[in-house]
Amino acid sequence: MAKSDNIVWHDSKVTKEDRQKLNNHKSAVIWFTGLSGSGKSTVSVELEKELHAQGVRTYRLDGDNVRHGLNKNLGFSPEDRKENIRRIGEVAKLMVDAGLFTLTAFISPYREDRDEVRELLEDGEFIEIFVNASVETCESRDPKGLYKKARAGEIKGFTGIDAPYEAPKNPEVTVDTDKQSLEESVQQIVAYLKEKGYVK
Ligand code: PPS
Repeated sequence: MAKSDNIVWHDSKVTKEDRQKLNNHKSAVIWFTGLSGSGKSTVSVELEKELHAQGVRTYRLDGDNVRHGLNKNLGFSPEDRKENIRRIGEVAKLMVDAGLFTLTAFISPYREDRDEVRELLEDGEFIEIFVNASVETCESRDPKGLYKKARAGEIKGFTGIDAPYEAPKNPEVTVDTDKQSLEESVQQIVAYLKEKGYVK
């Protein structure tokens, strides 16, 4: 018997739309993807601060943090990364249902895995932000010293060195963090959210 047999969906009397109305804004996932050291966490932290200051309800899910708890049983094989992203997608969906702007910062290196999360959500609820910086730039930043370890063979299967990163083909927004400032990247995303009517 499949694990999901004999399970019936139970609706709430308060809907996502009710929660959005109370919040006075829509809800969606702002999905950051990019190499380690590209600036996903940095940009998402600043964006969350800016949205919060504007009265927008947010929550942020971050790779390193989630891997300490919910996903602490997962490593970095392609299968584990897939499961990592699948779980985050489901959690993000719940948060969108709760009426929140959910900012996620995961390498999420496989296009197929990101597209599966997009499919989980309704139209317009998945905003993909490609945090674009070359491997050379990320390696020169190396904030955690991980590229150095990967080059020395101390970490196997490191994204961008000996594991792939598949850049998005049609992201909603691309921020070029090796060319623009943090403030410029944040304002670019805020401008997109305003233009599309997500926030005022
Ligand atoms: S993934 O690919 O989406 O499942 O990865 P994610 O959950 O975002 O976790 C990435 C952070 O884990 C650290 N780390 C590694 N990254 C890539 N490859 C390997 N092998 C690896 N091992 C550990 C690294 O600190 C990543 O953090 P960020 O913030 O991206 O630098």
